[in-house]
Amino acid sequence: MNNKVVWITGASTGIGKEIASAFSRAGYIVVVTGRRKSRLVNLAGEIKFAGREASAFVCNVASERSVASTTKRILEKYGRIDCLVNNAGVTVFKSILETKVYDYDYVMDINLRGSFLCMKSVLKRMIKMKRGHIINILSVAANTVYDNSAVYACSKAGLLALSNNVRDEVRKHNIKITNILPGATETAMWDSRTRQRYKNRMLSPEDIGAIALQVFEQPKKVMVEDIILRPVKGDI
Ligand SMILES: NC(=O)c1ccc[n+]([C@@H]2O[C@H](COP(=O)([O-])OP(=O)(O)OC[C@H]3O[C@@H](n4cnc5c(N)ncnc54)[C@H](OP(=O)(O)O)[C@@H]3O)[C@@H](O)[C@H]2O)c1
Repeated sequence: MNNKVVWITGASTGIGKEIASAFSRAGYIVVVTGRRKSRLVNLAGEIKFAGREASAFVCNVASERSVASTTKRILEKYGRIDCLVNNAGVTVFKSILETKVYDYDYVMDINLRGSFLCMKSVLKRMIKMKRGHIINILSVAANTVYDNSAVYACSKAGLLALSNNVRDEVRKHNIKITNILPGATETAMWDSRTRQRYKNRMLSPEDIGAIALQVFEQPKKVMVEDIILRPVKGDI
């Protein structure tokens, strides 16, 4: 067992769940967070049943208080956070005219503000320890145009800019920041009809989990900065 602690946000389903499973199988202690407690508790239970260490905490990344108290709980329990995976994210597939201000706030609060809050909350300790790794799950939408995805793309492009700037600020403290930009991945983010239709073509959440682990396991002096992953047959 490795004593490094990896915090994955939005780990109750999809990509986050598979990232947690990949890190756990590799022997790391994983902390899985999200809003749906029962799913997180089940996941942590499965990991513990397999003889590895995991904790599940409810954390709404859009809430400053929730992020601060989760960071505190992880540090109280394990005394360290070696890696934060900013994975929690949502979308609305709507044209700009259909997009309500509520939709805008919802997507931006979770995807951009949430990642900002989580990054800030772990960086203080990482800078003090002079080590740490933040992996941000963005999307190819950060730098590509898709139908009915303006606000989602905006949130991911904003996170790309945030991440690139923060990376430049903290690399002198030996902290790595990696952006992973996946293309269409078969998760609950897509409706069942789309999933059914493109199932064989989409990336699987396990693919992203494996890449995130590889990025983290690079030699000390190597920082993978950006990775773009697309289905072989292109975007759907
Ligand atoms: N699927 C794709 O094609 C694709 C492609 C590129 C990038 N991505 C990115 O991958 C990430 C994961 O998405 P997914 O595809 O795995 O979809 P998903 O299965 O719907 O997972 C989204 C996760 O985010 C969590 N979440 C949502 N709001 C949250 C909040 N306020 N606080 C904390 N957690 C919250 C959800 O858990 P709770 O509901 O329990 O909170 C859930 O675990 C997202 O950032 C997404 O933008 C997805």
